[in-house]
Amino acid sequence: MSQLYDEIGVGYELYRRPDPRIAAEVMRALGELAPVVNVGAGTGSYEPEDRPVVAVEPSLTMIRQRRGRTAAAVVRAYATNLPFGDDAFAAALAVLTMHHWPDRARGLSELARVARERLVILTYDPAAAAAFWLVDDYFPGIRETDRLSMPPLEEFRRVGRSVEIRPLPIPHDCSDGFLGAHWRRPSRYLDPGVRGAISAFGKLPDVDAGLSRLRSDLADGTWERRHGHLLSRTELDLGYRLVVVNL
Ligand SMILES: C[S@@+](CC[C@H](N)C(=O)[O-])C[C@H]1O[C@@H](n2cnc3c(N)ncnc32)[C@H](O)[C@@H]1O
Repeated sequence: MSQLYDEIGVGYELYRRPDPRIAAEVMRALGELAPVVNVGAGTGSYEPEDRPVVAVEPSLTMIRQRRGRTAAAVVRAYATNLPFGDDAFAAALAVLTMHHWPDRARGLSELARVARERLVILTYDPAAAAAFWLVDDYFPGIRETDRLSMPPLEEFRRVGRSVEIRPLPIPHDCSDGFLGAHWRRPSRYLDPGVRGAISAFGKLPDVDAGLSRLRSDLADGTWERRHGHLLSRTELDLGYRLVVVNL
């Protein structure tokens, strides 16, 4: 059951610490619902601590980094084949994982099968993707990978009675180092550890050219001339969305 995160997941816990503002939005979306299944749970980020939770995660590398971070029971399985009965949970949670599923439609049907009331999914809407200097100026290949792997929001309408899409602006000091997290801290992307915790970099055939352009643009002031206006912003909408599907 080896997969991408067995290779790139090493060090995840260090660079991908749950951000409290995002956690608050996830909790608001879950409401009081219990029990919860967290699919593609990784190291346990954003799992509620105040109710029964079962975490589903295929990668042992990720499971080992949980180190009791939450009290959830962990089941090693894939989203596309959840080992639970119909309606076993009140809600299913899936955070920044759907774009890794080989069959998204099947995974989403599985979530809707095992949850009775609600799905809460943190994802990225390729259609709402705003300009992002990292992708536009340095790693344009990421746009195409995202277009192919990120779920178009219509996919959610097929499984639920109603769907609510909540924009999730990213705070300038976001502690969860996903692709867009360092939009106001450009030099962070030069750190191999930071890049190692972002799967989009792992999927690019070549990062060296983009990296050396970023390094030199930061050194000679080009980055600041082009994007310095961002330095006074406290949050930015980059296309991340919290999708609430009522079943
Ligand atoms: C970016 S991480 C997100 C982890 C966690 N939800 C978080 O917010 O930190 C993506 C996770 O999806 C998991 N994953 C990949 N393919 C999967 C699949 N087919 N079914 C369930 N999880 C999968 C990976 O192993 C990884 O832990």
